[in-house]
Amino acid sequence: MCGIVGYIGEQNACPILVDGLKRLEYRGYDSAGVAVLNGNGIDVRKSVGKLKALETALENCWPKGGLGVGHTRWATHGRPSDENAHPHSDCTGKITVVHNGIIENYVQLKARLIEEGHQFKSETDTEVAAHLIESHYKGDLAEAIRTAAKEIEGSFALVVIAQEEPDKIVAARRHSPLVIGVGEGENFLASDVSAFLKYTRDVIYADDDNVVTITRNNIKITDLDGNPLDKKPRQVDWDAAMAERGGYEHFMLKEIHEQPRALRETMRGRLSLEKDCVELPGINLTDDEIRGIDRIIMIACGTAYHASMAGKYAIEHLCRIPVEVDVASELRYRDPIIDEHTLGIVISQSGETLDTIVGLHEAKSKGAKVIAITNVVGSMAARDSDGVLYTYAGPEIAVASTKAYTTQLMTLYLIALYFAQVRGTLEPERARQLREALWELPRRAEIILDDYRDVIAAAERYYCFNGFLYMARGINLASALEGALKVKEISYMHAEGYAAGEMKHGPIAMIDPTFATIAVTVKSATYDKMLSNIREVKARSGEVIAIANPHDETIKDYADRIITIPETEEIFSPVLVALPLQLMAYFVAHSRGPAIDQPRNLAKTVTVE
Ligand code: G6P
Repeated sequence: MCGIVGYIGEQNACPILVDGLKRLEYRGYDSAGVAVLNGNGIDVRKSVGKLKALETALENCWPKGGLGVGHTRWATHGRPSDENAHPHSDCTGKITVVHNGIIENYVQLKARLIEEGHQFKSETDTEVAAHLIESHYKGDLAEAIRTAAKEIEGSFALVVIAQEEPDKIVAARRHSPLVIGVGEGENFLASDVSAFLKYTRDVIYADDDNVVTITRNNIKITDLDGNPLDKKPRQVDWDAAMAERGGYEHFMLKEIHEQPRALRETMRGRLSLEKDCVELPGINLTDDEIRGIDRIIMIACGTAYHASMAGKYAIEHLCRIPVEVDVASELRYRDPIIDEHTLGIVISQSGETLDTIVGLHEAKSKGAKVIAITNVVGSMAARDSDGVLYTYAGPEIAVASTKAYTTQLMTLYLIALYFAQVRGTLEPERARQLREALWELPRRAEIILDDYRDVIAAAERYYCFNGFLYMARGINLASALEGALKVKEISYMHAEGYAAGEMKHGPIAMIDPTFATIAVTVKSATYDKMLSNIREVKARSGEVIAIANPHDETIKDYADRIITIPETEEIFSPVLVALPLQLMAYFVAHSRGPAIDQPRNLAKTVTVE
């Protein structure tokens, strides 16, 4: 996830671009850059680091011109560096591109372009787009982009300028956002409206496979075959801060809603139904090494630790490899048994959590190979591990983790399916069913996010209760712990997650009419046991909210309230269960009033022991 902006008009482009990038910095801040077209050609300036570094580099010599593009980067391919910062240009420097998204087939395209004689300067997938457009350019930029877009697999919002066509900016999108700002004598392009809200509130949202050409006074949109499309502008009435959050009141809610997209991005290029397999190029383990693993140890903190708990269930179940999970801060002091047949998996959104990094080093020092699951390209976890699998969640701004969690789960499922494939622990037909179910998950997540009035109603009833108990069994024990953590983090309420079978060993003593119990009762091997546990709570005058599947008639006789989520394979259900639990925490906190995105006493990244 990156931020892109384009401007054409009578004003000087550069200050408008930099100001737009400031509003988009929440989308990524590894590096930033601008390109301005004027009589001398295309002037490209870029810097690694936050936008401030670019502003310092520009000081006193801002490029002049009324047309330009800007970019703030969240690295996906290639570490954060000056070379990998956008904009990227073709061989001649006459075509310049900024990009948000992931070009899945960039390796193949790059090899072909190198064979044709193109020279690359960066490690990015974006530079491939610049050279690809160059290779198709015959004096019509929009046409070249249409041809290139047909060859690109993956997600992209591309904004492109060409020295030969100094009166226009051309853009195209597929799966990544692109919005057009309609001005008077000037027009804008951006990842979201916050970038140009100062100048216009009239916007057109581009759709997948649209190609957009803006000049000072005109906007033309076509499909990939060049057929014109008629789209009318609409007005947005958000203020600037709200626009940054995509119209949501808090980043947390925005990030909850981003999960279907983030899950798809995380699957992209790894799971494909056509190829009938899972591919994990970044894992950096040979098939023999995967067959030689006799134990896995997972190391993580906080929400990532809960993801690792679910990962243990999935890997043990599908691959029959014993898995231990460790809270990172405990690992080093317990003299763990680790050797060269152990695989370490560290899970960390930031890739910088000190305890997790220390655990990573501990595992490596004992001879284990370690792979990292992280959201941040070039982070310490990524650098110090033997292999890395990125979660393509994009920057997570809210302290309470949401989309990072579900994309960590997705990555762990991909590992489980991949190892099962290599070790032959799954019947091919069963493996196919699981791949299909995984593929379907983002769509099912969308169904939950399309209408969650029942969650809001529950939150409105229970926010003034004395506390929450989350109970579950099996793989959803992780969901119970994560659901309770979310409430604690942002509402400061007492909440506990418990294995339902443990209720009678203590927690049931807390049950009274002011204590709400959330029971995860989706279709599972332990469904009947969960029903008994609900009965036990009801018998002590507790109120029960069940997270259950549609068409479950039985649960109606047990729970006071039912929140339904679509059915899926039991091992994948934590992804769907997470959504109502995150929403529940959000709306409980909303009713109680704390600062949801930045709760007291917490930090997004904890770099102290
Ligand atoms: C902090 C954050 C949590 C996060 C944990 C681990 O406590 O507030 O949301 O789960 O750190 O962070 P990591 O970046 O390693 O996933």
